[in-house]
Amino acid sequence: MKVGLTYDLKTDYHLKAGDPPDANAEFDHPDTIKVIAKAIESNGFSVQKIGNAADLLEKFEKLSVDIVFNISEGLEGRNRESQVPMLLEMAGIPFVGADALSLGVSLDKLMAKKIFMAEGIPTPKFKVVEGLERIKNLDHMQFPLFVKPRFEGSSKGLTEASRVENKEELKKQVEHIISTYKQPALIEEFIRGEEFTVAVVGNDPPEALPIVQIQIDGELKLRDKFYTFGHIKDDALEYICPAPVSKAVEKKIADLAVRTYKAIECRDFGRVDIRVDEKGNPYVLEINPLPSLSTADVFMVVAKAVGMTYEDMIGKILKAAIKRHRLN
Ligand SMILES: Nc1ncnc2c1ncn2[C@@H]1O[C@H](COP(=O)(O)OP(=O)(O)O)[C@@H](O)[C@H]1O
Ligand SMILES: [Mg+2]
Repeated sequence: MKVGLTYDLKTDYHLKAGDPPDANAEFDHPDTIKVIAKAIESNGFSVQKIGNAADLLEKFEKLSVDIVFNISEGLEGRNRESQVPMLLEMAGIPFVGADALSLGVSLDKLMAKKIFMAEGIPTPKFKVVEGLERIKNLDHMQFPLFVKPRFEGSSKGLTEASRVENKEELKKQVEHIISTYKQPALIEEFIRGEEFTVAVVGNDPPEALPIVQIQIDGELKLRDKFYTFGHIKDDALEYICPAPVSKAVEKKIADLAVRTYKAIECRDFGRVDIRVDEKGNPYVLEINPLPSLSTADVFMVVAKAVGMTYEDMIGKILKAAIKRHRLN
């Protein structure tokens, strides 16, 4: 079977004037593409590297692959992750992972939260601010609050200033997000407590892998600490798997992750980010239907914890898609 590979490389993106410094954060390093290609081959498939959406368009007529392993993040806007899946759907080529709709509603955190609420999935109270108007109607929320861009990932726009204690800090951060990231700001109640992220794989039924706990500065009780863009490059943040929690807590978090995955109609693989407050109430922050598969990221930490290799994990995800498409 021949597997196409679609991706966006960090090296293909040239920062433009007016771009925030983290503009290329989501894109993959060439080494990640190399190791994924090797991992697919080691599972007995041949690989054709296709590239990004523009490359796919160019090769559209001449593609001969049985399935595409898509990790393309797309270039701009809230539909960016949906571009390659939409083209593949048009061409009638099966692909690994969520479809354009699921990717679009998850990347837009406001849309995702509306779905969570409709499904009874707990998520922090929130308000979206579109422009630089006066910030009103916050009475349903209590400081501290948290400000993030409405449709970014990879902790883009998140620094120590994202958690705000009062109206002045809030206004400043909202203005910063709107002007730098050129999109509405999502204001949420800050969930003080602990943080988990859950890798989910497969379909009918999806399987939550052992949950991962986020440790920052050596602490699991994060209280006011959170994941910033800066943490991606330093070693203050660590993924702990298995998470040192009771069986009951593990099950509660894992079940919530699977419910979220199903609510968004994720496929083959995904990752759900959850904060738990000091009373033990969990809140879903977001779902990533296209989580990083780099060797340093969560999926590989989980693979190690369950005795799987990187190749096994990539194979498991690919085989889930092959089975879903009934290609075997
Ligand atoms: N409401 C919140 N309360 C506390 N921390 C938050 C909240 N929202 C986000 N965070 C922190 O910011 C990080 C990134 O937010 P997230 O919503 O997962 O966006 P991204 O797409 O950038 O990963 C989370 O992992 C968490 O540490
Ligand atoms: Mg996240």
